[in-house]
Amino acid sequence: RTTAVILAGGTGQRVGLSIPKQLLKIAGKAVIEHTLNTFEKADSVDDILVLMAPGYVPEVEKIVAKAGFTKVTKVIEGGATRNETTERAIAELSASLADGEDLNVLFHDAVRPLLSQRVIDDCVAALERYQAVDVAIPSADTIIVTRTHGDDGEFITEIPDRSRLRRGQTPQAFKLSTIRRAYEIAAEDPNFQATDDCTVVLKYLPNVPIHVVAGDEYNMKVTQPVDVFIADKLFQLASTAAPEQNDEHVYRELLTGRTLVVFGG
Ligand code: CTP
Repeated sequence: RTTAVILAGGTGQRVGLSIPKQLLKIAGKAVIEHTLNTFEKADSVDDILVLMAPGYVPEVEKIVAKAGFTKVTKVIEGGATRNETTERAIAELSASLADGEDLNVLFHDAVRPLLSQRVIDDCVAALERYQAVDVAIPSADTIIVTRTHGDDGEFITEIPDRSRLRRGQTPQAFKLSTIRRAYEIAAEDPNFQATDDCTVVLKYLPNVPIHVVAGDEYNMKVTQPVDVFIADKLFQLASTAAPEQNDEHVYRELLTGRTLVVFGG
């Protein structure tokens, strides 16, 4: 069985709205509704668990009821950090498993509403061979490593070879038993620090290979205010371009520039 876990426990400080950014309406729907819709439609996903920012669980329950999503089994509160939200999801999913039973879990940022079916399917397929899977894209920008020197500001210490660098996205997919074990070991480390889930496996289960699935440029994370406009534009172009086509097809055209050419004509 495969469960999608929607991580929506954050409040979106960097976007800086009075509501969590996952509730912001883009192209007529809350960001989280777009995200839930993608997993609802995915043949390779059986059910969906949502972890929402404290105080906003009823909002999500309303969205789920109104949209008629049948795969969402539960909406519960997230934790104080993204990793604590993941831990709550692990506890919730483990409680409903029989002894010796395992599960595929896909952890996805609620604020990446433009995820494609292809990436979901590739993650689930990769879990047939691997216990841990990440999604990433090449970096167009050169990535530099810096160190701060007092009041003088930042200085470069290293410029890693760009051809080997990737930008991590989500979903991050695991066998539930593997990610649970990684977090159990992490819980004993007083210096535990991470912002994603693959870091936890890499650090505490170093012998588990983490397979990388190719992500998509448009699987962007709504993080800064400008991202709201970019996401809105992508959804808008998609619906204007060809309402009869499925979203994924249109985004793909956007990426290759073909849709923009059509508009120009
Ligand atoms: N997230 C979560 N629980 C937290 C913090 C974050 O589930 N305690 C989720 C967010 O809701 C989001 C994803 O992790 O879907 C990616 O995190 P980020 O973009 O950093 O979201 P926020 O924490 O909401 O944003 P900010 O850091 O600007 O406050």
